[in-house]
Amino acid sequence: MDKIIIEGGRPLYGEVKISGAKNAALPLITATLLTPGWHVLHNVPDLRDTRTILALLESLGLVWERQGSTLRINSAGLIGFEASYELVKTMRASVLVLGPLLARLGRARVSLPGGCAIGARPIDFHLQGFKQMGAILTLEQGYVDAQVTGRLRGATIYFDIPSVTGTENILMAAATADGTTVIKNAAREPEVGNLVEMLTAMGARIEGSGTDRLVVHGVSDLQPAEVTTIPDRIEAGTYLIAAGAAGGDVTLTNCNPSHLPALLEKLRVIGFTIEEGAGTIRISRPPPVAGQGGVPLRSVDIKTQPYPGFATDLQAQIMALMTMTSGLSVITETIFENRFMHVAELKRMGADIRVDGHSAIIKGNGRLKGAQVMATDLRASASLVVAGLAAEGVTEISRIYHLERGYENLVDKLANLGAVIRKEKA
Ligand code: UD1
Repeated sequence: MDKIIIEGGRPLYGEVKISGAKNAALPLITATLLTPGWHVLHNVPDLRDTRTILALLESLGLVWERQGSTLRINSAGLIGFEASYELVKTMRASVLVLGPLLARLGRARVSLPGGCAIGARPIDFHLQGFKQMGAILTLEQGYVDAQVTGRLRGATIYFDIPSVTGTENILMAAATADGTTVIKNAAREPEVGNLVEMLTAMGARIEGSGTDRLVVHGVSDLQPAEVTTIPDRIEAGTYLIAAGAAGGDVTLTNCNPSHLPALLEKLRVIGFTIEEGAGTIRISRPPPVAGQGGVPLRSVDIKTQPYPGFATDLQAQIMALMTMTSGLSVITETIFENRFMHVAELKRMGADIRVDGHSAIIKGNGRLKGAQVMATDLRASASLVVAGLAAEGVTEISRIYHLERGYENLVDKLANLGAVIRKEKA
């Protein structure tokens, strides 16, 4: 199994270019199912997850080509309507084909995701929404088969919890539905806004982008569109936290500071200097004052929330940073029930963390020590990279295929910032 080996304790300096957002690219790619013709998507990261969704589209008869970060996709040859267990098992975002397939073909068959490493993660909100729009759902052999005769119908759909992919699936289904669909308590994540931008460019009529109430007036036809994927705010946040934990002075380029409101404020409270520019964010730690030493890192409490709150996808990484402070912090996870798998691995590196229900209590002791650790899911793996960069000595991270799902050129990007990091093939 491939490994990442980090010799920690070296500050990071320089610039790092942020890639397009994985979680924005996935729905943009599946939205091309809605109408035939060549769609053009810019700034699409080349990741295991984007390759998986393209393989799924290919299995449905679509063709695509990639030039650099630009993808051209044509769904004129659409023949299939099924996302298999094999695909959904490796990437639950495969369920994003449900809405567009139902809208275009009147039929979609998708394996139910089942449990995943970070919790149960059902798709009942998606299914309830499709039902309200007139789809008949049957469940057989772990697959949900959704069918509708004629067009889907507009409906008012309320989410108990603002689901990101749920909102995206309903938006795609509603674009060509008969009548108006209202999504109440919709997710406000910037990735949803990026999808609204694409659907609008395709001719959809959507009001309320960026708010928790989205109104979609169904249209009869859509056209292919050209759109740019927003920068990956989770990748950006991970590099900011890494630079914070390891120390140094790092500038992110090609990013959007307004997509990271909670993290940037928390980093300022912890004691970093954060400068926001047009498409850039710089993080540095104030230099030591003569005779007084460096400024200690302050501990902060963090609670994950739907956007614009603190992203659950940055919870594991900020926990690694909190171990480097000199106080007590409480991190509360409110989105997923089992998202503390990184705790056991961080403890192997000397962290003092106690989990109590949905909270982790971290007693910062200002230092971590290198160790052999194992990646358990995408963001937990990123937290081990952060910890490894900050730790004294050598950290060896195995099962790094998780990282390859969501971080483009992670090792090269960090090495360019001065990290001593390498990937070792098994
Ligand atoms: C998306 C992101 C993921 C991120 C998550 C939360 C993508 C591809 N993935 O996942 O990286 O961690 O948002 O920001 O964009 N829920 C239900 N029933 C449903 C749907 C959701 O109970 O039908 C619950 C979930 O269990 C969870 C909460 O709602 O507790 C939010 O989940 P959701 O926003 O749907 O997550 P994803 O869209 O799967």
